[in-house]
Amino acid sequence: MSAMDTTGASLPEEAIQYLQQKNIPDLMERLLHELIVKQPDEPLRFLAEVLAAPVVPKLIISGPPAAGKGTQCQLIAKHFGVVHISTGDLLRQLKEEGGKEGKEAAVYMEKGELVPDEIIVEIVRQRLCKEDVRNKGWLLDGFPRTRNQALAMQAAGLIPQLFVLLAVPDEVVIERIEGRRVDPVTRKVYHLTHNPPPQHDAEVLERLQQRADDTRDAVRRRLATYHRNCAEIVECYQCVSLELDGDRSPQEIFEDVSVSIKAKANLGPHAQ
Ligand code: AP5
Repeated sequence: MSAMDTTGASLPEEAIQYLQQKNIPDLMERLLHELIVKQPDEPLRFLAEVLAAPVVPKLIISGPPAAGKGTQCQLIAKHFGVVHISTGDLLRQLKEEGGKEGKEAAVYMEKGELVPDEIIVEIVRQRLCKEDVRNKGWLLDGFPRTRNQALAMQAAGLIPQLFVLLAVPDEVVIERIEGRRVDPVTRKVYHLTHNPPPQHDAEVLERLQQRADDTRDAVRRRLATYHRNCAEIVECYQCVSLELDGDRSPQEIFEDVSVSIKAKANLGPHAQ
């Protein structure tokens, strides 16, 4: 097999294999992307700096409520060493801290409505500035959820190598949400049937909680909001988007996600 280059000449088989094995098209895309976003005065020096910097993962995981985003993110973070940033967790933490912003956000969350863009964009921006993210990369869970949030990310030069969409039917979402229990101490997430808490540990069983927004009414609203915004968000990430069937075992899904992270983001386990 051979391919035509832009001058019309055929590329030899070895050249094609080399380009594929070394992921050269992705590398070129990354360099071009950095140039477009940063538009440096000295492009050559800038590109040399980009090449010298470590490649860190930049990933987004999206999907309806209870699609298993958090569950997959824990596996990805453990395997690839990337920083998992869940906007839902950041907001719940703010609420626990008891400040004005946290209380304001909690009102929206408990009703199953989105927190206003200006609040959440600022929270994410601050989190992404931290050193651990610069060194290990980011895995965004639950952000962006609106076109405006996606545009704010793009404007800040935050472009993912991979956007994973977990597709799960509404009836599965509802069943997962009804069975979800959270350990407030370890923050582990269980499901009464699919991922039961340790039955021998009375202390854990005693303290398990249901999330305040895991009610039927709130879930209906969360699902409606998701369906209203989903297409516009996916459109922003068409070139790096991967849709997966999320109605399978967590391990099966993780295997597919891993293959794509390695291929798209050109990364191995605990990549630096
Ligand atoms: P958030 O906390 O992000 O909630 P969510 O998107 O509704 O997602 P969940 O946390 O409910 O589910 P998940 O997909 O992580 O699934 P999980 O792994 O837990 O956001 C909460 C609220 O904060 C929002 O409603 C909004 O108000 C606000 N907010 C957050 N981000 C915002 C933003 N960007 N803009 C504005 N507002 C924002 O799994 C669910 C259950 O299923 C578990 O019990 C688990 O054990 C089980 N499970 C997981 N995977 C599987 C599987 N493969 N098979 C069987 N069971 C599984």
